[in-house]
Amino acid sequence: MSMFSSRVRGAQRLLQCRHTAGGPPSSGRAFSSRLVLGIETSCDDTGAAVLDETGSILGESLHSQKEVHLSAGGIIPTVAQHLHRENIQRVVQEALERSGVHPSQLAAVATTVKPGLALSLGIGLEFSQRFVRQHNKPFIPIHHMEAHALTVRMLHPVAFPFLVLLISGGHSLLAVARGVDDFLLLGHTLDEAPGDILDKVARRLSLIKHPQCSTLSGGQAIELLAKNGDRRRVEQGSLLSCVNDLAAATQHTIASHLAKRTHRAILFCKDNGLLPSSTPTLVLSGGVASNQYIRKALTIITETTGLRLLCPPAKFCTDNGVMIAWNGVERLRESKGILPPHVDVRYEPRAPLGVDMSAEVRAAGIKLPSVKLKILN
Ligand code: KG4
Ligand code: ZN
Repeated sequence: MSMFSSRVRGAQRLLQCRHTAGGPPSSGRAFSSRLVLGIETSCDDTGAAVLDETGSILGESLHSQKEVHLSAGGIIPTVAQHLHRENIQRVVQEALERSGVHPSQLAAVATTVKPGLALSLGIGLEFSQRFVRQHNKPFIPIHHMEAHALTVRMLHPVAFPFLVLLISGGHSLLAVARGVDDFLLLGHTLDEAPGDILDKVARRLSLIKHPQCSTLSGGQAIELLAKNGDRRRVEQGSLLSCVNDLAAATQHTIASHLAKRTHRAILFCKDNGLLPSSTPTLVLSGGVASNQYIRKALTIITETTGLRLLCPPAKFCTDNGVMIAWNGVERLRESKGILPPHVDVRYEPRAPLGVDMSAEVRAAGIKLPSVKLKILN
């Protein structure tokens, strides 16, 4: 099936949905708040969700490609693209139907356009531009990392500014969120993101063949096995009992590295007055943030430095359409970055987050007091 004909088929189905699922706005479900459809395809999850302006999730749908990529030993961009193309129409339609909203009732469509895998971003953007033109709706291009950073505000009343640590398979960054489109980047990974490391270690250990790990992501597998491991056996060069010890050592190394970098970022923020004196907050998000051991390491740092630690539930830490729709809501409320339907938008595989302050952080040369990361499983 060519891309063009599958797109036409998709458009036809949405037109049907308009007539069957919701009916015209006057006879459909009534909404007093503005509604945003969010669409995510930046990596290996096809997600869509409809939110109202208060952050209520009216309907959502998510198709994960995890199993395919697990058995292939990693994400192959052309495979991811193919799966997004196969699923996007159904996922968007499901989110709309579950919400009882039909396209004419939307105030805007928000879609991830940066950063991410080019082939994956392209599918979501192409679908969305066609959709907004067909239904004559405003389009809100979304920065995936800004969306991760602000998801917490859908769940808690967290005021700007706050510090955020985003850790996933593709990213590792520390930033101060000062506003919907105002971020200071304090630091980012120089080589590999923590989720990528966990996935690679898991692959090297062939954990997919472990009876308890066959359907788990690398990070999930390592967290599970580490519960029965002892990292000190690896550190002391002792005879290893099993993969559990390696899992525990890998997890601890990543946790302690993130804890130190975050500690330095907190001290930099304090020295430069970047966080409020009342309830300064660290937000932790991204797929790796669901790791309880890493959360405990960061809890020790926030307790030591007097910050509040907030972490959205795992379901909102990983990629989904909800976080994109929420970012659309935040932008709609402030009338920021809203485009008419006919404007051509390009995707950007690489897109930094905010103003890069990492040179200033490095130049500050902050020495860290020693903190014992005594974490019990
Ligand atoms: O945010 P995400 O869903 O996708 C992106 O990478 O953008 O994160 C996926 C990453 C994978 O590398 C996976 O191994 C890791 O998050 N992950 C975990 C856990 N669950 C998922 N890492 C550590 N502990 C976990 N429980
Ligand atoms: Zn992500």
